[in-house]
Amino acid sequence: MVAAAPSGKKPLPDMMTSIRIDKSGQVEIVDQLLLPHSVVWQPVSTPEEAFAAIKSMKIRGAPAIASLAALSLRSYLSSSSAPSFDTPSDAIKYVRETVDYLQSSRPTAVNLGEAMDRIRTVLKDGEAKNTSSTEEIVEQVKKVCGEVHEEDLERNMSMGRLGAEWLWKKRGGEKSGKKGLKVVTVCNTGSLATSGYGTAIGVITALFEEDQLDTAYYAQTTPYHQGSRLTSLELTTLQIPACMICDTMLGSLFQHEDIDGVIVGADRVVQNGDTANKIGTYQAAVLAQRHNIPFMVVAPVTTIDLSLSTGTDIHIEHRPSIEATQVRGLNTETGKLSVVRITPEGVGEGDKPWQRVYNPSFDVTPAELISK
Ligand code: MRU
Repeated sequence: MVAAAPSGKKPLPDMMTSIRIDKSGQVEIVDQLLLPHSVVWQPVSTPEEAFAAIKSMKIRGAPAIASLAALSLRSYLSSSSAPSFDTPSDAIKYVRETVDYLQSSRPTAVNLGEAMDRIRTVLKDGEAKNTSSTEEIVEQVKKVCGEVHEEDLERNMSMGRLGAEWLWKKRGGEKSGKKGLKVVTVCNTGSLATSGYGTAIGVITALFEEDQLDTAYYAQTTPYHQGSRLTSLELTTLQIPACMICDTMLGSLFQHEDIDGVIVGADRVVQNGDTANKIGTYQAAVLAQRHNIPFMVVAPVTTIDLSLSTGTDIHIEHRPSIEATQVRGLNTETGKLSVVRITPEGVGEGDKPWQRVYNPSFDVTPAELISK
């Protein structure tokens, strides 16, 4: 748990986090595959354990996976089972291989790559200076790993405040006579997806704290249900007025409600402003334009990738088809967690032409659909 934002008018209950570190430095994550039904904390002691947790989606969310990757390396390098290095070059070689490995766990979100690049810069500087102290290099790496996690929380708090101010003014502020804004979000961008407070959900939380929020509508976000499982949990924990919609209902919602803004996070923003985010974001942007609704992307600088020119250069991760053919949830008759298949047998698993499943995890929203 982390304390809620200090500046708001409305007090908030504590927010759930996906990562915690105890006094001995042990890193733990909440297993997001079991949320919202069970809260189970699991230790992550090595980069290999972090890799497995990221790959299996026990932890997900662009900034959160970057934090976990960095913290797992710091924790391992500080532990009694850390490898011993004879020379600074041995340490550099180990860290370099480890960050390459961690970065390969998920390809689309650039925050992870950015965090690993910061560690690579430490290694390069060490080489350039011809450092003779192995300890100095290891300490520098550990310092940067901690910063990756801590800076994310600070950035989210400021983005929340700035984003809320921007949207409130854009919709006419006090003069509009509105008691609060109706906004829509997709996927999960709150304290579970980041180091705390959230990106798009950070803006929604800030609106709520300032008494400028009417309702936060959130899409279920199939096939992985980040909305119905995780955003739902975050908003109910914070007691923010909210209403879940199915992904197919966005058009209807825009036709029937006076929506003030669509607020989303991002996994990678490239040079021309094109933005990769959770699947379903692009269709929300197209519909928002049709209905003249501001479309806001909320992302920290670690999400910006100036090495790519346009959205077509972004590597879009495709997830295993079982993530679309099966649903995980609570069996209300037995009270146990279970996984059920919702398709005929073989769909997504067989090799017949009628058994295929298309399951990209992200889509790209062209810059022209994003409000300036
Ligand atoms: O559940 P994921 O890891 O596949 O989702 C990625 C994201 O975190 C979202 O796309 C989100 O909008 C990024 S901002 C926290």
